[in-house]
Amino acid sequence: MPNSPRIRIFDTTLRDGEQSPGCSMSPQQKLVMARALDELGVDVMETGFPASSQSDREAMAMIAREVRRPTLAVLSRCLAADIETSAKALETAANPRLHVFLSTSPLHREHKLRMTREQVLESVHKHVSLARSYVGDVEFSAEDATRTEEDFLIEVARVAVAAGATTINLPDTVGFTTPEEIRGMFQRVIAGVPDSDRIIFSAHCHNDLGLAVANSLAAIEGGARQVECTVNGIGERAGNCSLEEIAMVLKVRNAFYDEDTRINTPRIVATSQLLQRLVGMPVQRNKAIVGANAFAHESGIHQHGMLRHRGTYEIMRPEDVGWESSQMVLGRHSGRAAVEQRLRALGFFLYEEELKHVFEQFKALCEQQRVVTDADLQTLMQGSATQN
Ligand code: KIV
Ligand code: ZN
Repeated sequence: MPNSPRIRIFDTTLRDGEQSPGCSMSPQQKLVMARALDELGVDVMETGFPASSQSDREAMAMIAREVRRPTLAVLSRCLAADIETSAKALETAANPRLHVFLSTSPLHREHKLRMTREQVLESVHKHVSLARSYVGDVEFSAEDATRTEEDFLIEVARVAVAAGATTINLPDTVGFTTPEEIRGMFQRVIAGVPDSDRIIFSAHCHNDLGLAVANSLAAIEGGARQVECTVNGIGERAGNCSLEEIAMVLKVRNAFYDEDTRINTPRIVATSQLLQRLVGMPVQRNKAIVGANAFAHESGIHQHGMLRHRGTYEIMRPEDVGWESSQMVLGRHSGRAAVEQRLRALGFFLYEEELKHVFEQFKALCEQQRVVTDADLQTLMQGSATQN
């Protein structure tokens, strides 16, 4: 492996996540979220883009005062004024990181920057050097890396490293790449940078094709040792790689990846729910790990299997991500075993014939409503001649 084995989690919920339409946060809200991210155990927390707003500068100052363990990063364009503003914002941070970015793809060079390859290289050298004059921890991101000519991307990475960058991020800015492609890109760029074992290579994948987590995982296979992600996967357009998903893939499949993060996984659900409340954006019920259905079972076959051995239909324990327990949802697809188990939990112990009768009533109720609650079962038992 070209880099050290642990996977660093760079959380950008407060920067790229906040750029999600409708997800902006006040400095106070960012502080609350930063405390939760600290407890969650992220290695790096990107708090904002100080040159872009007074609110981000205030948030950074409040976070830097309180949150002392993780590295605190802020974003800057390759502009001296941005970098100076960021350096000022980082002054009180215990572990500051200046994150500088510039687009490298032909499309961005021509239409967004109107810069030649040479001008891009010059700007990278100049601004990474400037950032290094303020702090020892500098990350350079080659925006739109996955649509950049590979020979040029390697040149950019070399220049950034020579100018003092300690982390090189190769973002899939528009969520265009595939796992095979990004794995190869990381392998070749890392091989093309001298002394690459001194540098942390980082993946930053967007989810436009729903591949952000798969692509981040492939980048790790290619040598990335930092993953940039957000809680609930919030972020520009379809969002970023979801923190909870990548952390749990690495944990659940550790026999395969042999890499883990320092994420305190039982804090995941609470952190996700906090963010949902703060930005007013609930996750869908079937969202992996943190959706309400992630550990819920309704079909009779699955419930029966779960009652015998949870491993039949669950690949991780709900407690390991912060849910209290799995949920047996009673509805049209449920079987007798699950209904009987729920009734027992409510204090009703029925003989075979009684259970048969109550189960028929339960099925009739399911024709009228999607889910049968504990209260429904109690009402059903009150009206039943079999109540004990
Ligand atoms: O998606 C992207 O390229 C970014 C960079 C600024 C890191 O967010
Ligand atoms: Zn991004």
